[in-house]
Amino acid sequence: MISDRTTKEINAQINRELYSAYLYLAMSSDAMYKGFKGAAAWFAVQFQEEQGHALRFVKYLQDQNAKVELGAIAAPKKEWKDLLDMFQATLAHEKGITASLGKLMVLAAAEKDFATQGLLQWFINEQVEEEANDAEVIWMLEMASGSKGALFMADKKLGDRK
Ligand code: FEO
Repeated sequence: MISDRTTKEINAQINRELYSAYLYLAMSSDAMYKGFKGAAAWFAVQFQEEQGHALRFVKYLQDQNAKVELGAIAAPKKEWKDLLDMFQATLAHEKGITASLGKLMVLAAAEKDFATQGLLQWFINEQVEEEANDAEVIWMLEMASGSKGALFMADKKLGDRK
């Protein structure tokens, strides 16, 4: 059994993961509207991943016989200046998620809640990969800056994400 405080904080994290999914669906839609099919596909994959993250926390609370409480999901922005703006916003958002997971880990450690620490470690490792991927895309888009041909190739490469 996990503490009420940890349950509350994990419920808040479920909301953050679902907001992340919503944010990436908005980015996918904006990318598609702007004609970037590769980036639209990249964000559609991210949309799915974030839902998976939310479900992983939901399943954990259920396994611990703790109550899942879903709150309202805030509306994300509707449009971004360009792909670089979108990916910079993505990296900034993920850094915020990493920070929230860190706070949860501090709480779980203080409560000597080893099961929650184990779960959180998986997420924290995942964040290292996500931030590295975002930084790599930002680098690619910065390199493509000013060249329509390079931007076309960058978008095509983004579409390769499975
Ligand atoms: Fe669920 Fe992008 O971290």
